[in-house]
Amino acid sequence: MEHFSIDGATGRSFELRIEEVDSISEELVRTLIEIDLQTFSESTFSHYTARAFLGNGRVLLLLADGHIIGSCVCMRTWGDPDEVLILSMGIRPGWRGRGLGLSFVQGILHRLSQIGAQAVSLLVSLDNRRAIRVYEETGFSVQEVMDRDSRTGEAFVRMRCSLVDRPELSIVE
Ligand SMILES: CC(C)(COP(=O)(O)OP(=O)(O)OC[C@H]1O[C@@H](n2cnc3c(N)ncnc32)[C@H](O)[C@@H]1OP(=O)(O)O)[C@@H](O)C(=O)NCCC(=O)NCCS
Repeated sequence: MEHFSIDGATGRSFELRIEEVDSISEELVRTLIEIDLQTFSESTFSHYTARAFLGNGRVLLLLADGHIIGSCVCMRTWGDPDEVLILSMGIRPGWRGRGLGLSFVQGILHRLSQIGAQAVSLLVSLDNRRAIRVYEETGFSVQEVMDRDSRTGEAFVRMRCSLVDRPELSIVE
C-alpha cells in the first residue's frame, strides 16, 4: 500500500492499492469498458468479452481511497502458458501524468511474478511515448516493430519483460 499526494491546493493524500478481481459484478464490467473507452477510440471490450476476461483472465485494479482509477487486463499466452499478455492497461484521465503509471505497472509485474508468470508481453502504439516510457522504466524492451495497421495507419511495437531473476521493484501492494 502506498500513500499518494495529488498536486493542488488541497494537499490531499490518497491511499493507493492494487487489487486482483476475484468476483464479477455488472458494475465491474461497466468500469472496465468505461476506463478503456476513456483512452482508446475503438473499444477493446464488448460487454461479453469484458465478462469473459473478468471471469477467466486476470484483471488487476488500481484503487485510490477504494475507488477504481486504473485497470489492467491480462491473459496467459497460448504458446507459452508461463508468459502473460497484457491486453489493456490504463489509468483514468484525471489521474495520469503523476507517476502512477510507473507504480501501477511495477505492482502488476510483482503480482504476476508472485503467481508464477515468467514473462510479460504487450503491444503498444509507437506514438504512445508516455506508455512506452513507463514500460521501459519497469524493465520492458522493444522486441519488434509491427507493420502499420492498413486501416488506421497506427504502428505498434511489441514489448516484453522477463520476470525471471528480476530485482524487487514493487511499490504499491
Ligand atoms: C500509459 C499510462 C498508464 C501512464 O501512466 P501515467 O501515470 O500517466 O504516467 P507517468 O506519470 O508515470 O509518466 C510516465 C513517464 O512518461 C513521461 N511522459 C509523460 N508524457 C509524455 C509524453 N507525451 N512523451 C514522452 N514521455 C512522456 C513522464 O515524464 C514519465 O517519465 P519520467 O518518469 O521519466 O518522468 C497512462 O498515461 C494511461 O492510462 N494512458 C492511457 C492508456 C494507455 O496508453 N495505456 C497503455 C497502452 S496499453
